[in-house]
Amino acid sequence: MSEVLRLPGLVDVHVHLREPGQTDKEDFDTGTRAALAGGFTTVLDMPNNALPITTPERLEEKIALAREKTMCDIGFHYGSLGDNLGTFAEGAKHAVGLKVYLNNTTGGYTLDPARLKEIYATWPRNQVVLLHTEEDTIDIAMASLEGLDRPVHICHMPSRAVLEKIIAAKQKGLPVTCGVTPNHLFITEEDVPRLGVYGMMKPPLKTKADQDFLWAHLDDIDIFESDHAPHTHEDKAAGAFGVPNLETTLPLLLKARAEGKLTLEQIIDKCFTKPSEIFGLPTDDATYIEVKMEPYVIHNAELQTKCGWSPWDGEEMPGRVQKVVLHGATVYENGEFPTAANPARVLTPFDS
Ligand code: DOR
Ligand code: ZN
Repeated sequence: MSEVLRLPGLVDVHVHLREPGQTDKEDFDTGTRAALAGGFTTVLDMPNNALPITTPERLEEKIALAREKTMCDIGFHYGSLGDNLGTFAEGAKHAVGLKVYLNNTTGGYTLDPARLKEIYATWPRNQVVLLHTEEDTIDIAMASLEGLDRPVHICHMPSRAVLEKIIAAKQKGLPVTCGVTPNHLFITEEDVPRLGVYGMMKPPLKTKADQDFLWAHLDDIDIFESDHAPHTHEDKAAGAFGVPNLETTLPLLLKARAEGKLTLEQIIDKCFTKPSEIFGLPTDDATYIEVKMEPYVIHNAELQTKCGWSPWDGEEMPGRVQKVVLHGATVYENGEFPTAANPARVLTPFDS
């Protein structure tokens, strides 16, 4: 009999479920089925929709759509292009965090970093501001933290250059946390010739030396975040950035564990404990997952994500989720989603 591990329901603070506006790529139903199949019982959705989530009305519309369809607990990050500070108080009531982009990516919603101070001062101090920053904007991002008394989270750190600056900021006692994606931990720029457009993302894949640095400094990394960023094959061929990851993150981490690069305790810490603490999310002992440690091969055709592809198609992983219990109800078991009432909740932070 293969070993079965019981873990708390995992929390993914960084997903792009694309609804409303781009439901050809993903929607709340397929995206949250992918979450459950991957062991995530809470996801926090990003605001770079086709129409960015920068008004309370758009956020409310998005939440109403999610309420009808979501299969797991879900919360939302609000967005800003720097021109909606007057709406922050209202937007924050329904949001978990505020996401701002200092670099260009899907949607093209880049913020002038000169606006950061004002944004930090306006978004409620008990909610996280999340930054997309890369090598060319990390200095200004770290400088913006000086004297700051509010949490800031750096998303998907790709490289040694970025992580070194975050470590320096942490050593100074600045209020910063950071996350890393499976992309930057498990593939490098050397994989891009093989993966083609399916290896294109923001921040881009870096060198093996960068990846080795991230693994060597895992203790300085607070969170594993999937950055689940589904796109259709057509959109990828046309140059869209992003990789789906809700169903592959935990299997990849289990593979790293089997190789002695990571412990189960670190997986739980960075996929449950720290994300819950940092984002102020409620936890529930009656929400847990069972993982069957039996080798299986990832197949595109078996994925729940609507986009139907993964850079890890055809690769063997050492184990996967066999059962998910959400608030006491079995909502996923061996590839099936029992049809009884699903107790999934829409979250706002600090409301437990
Ligand atoms: O590769 C990416 N895809 N990086 C981002 O920052 C955005 C994401 C998306 O929305 O597709
Ligand atoms: Zn993202």
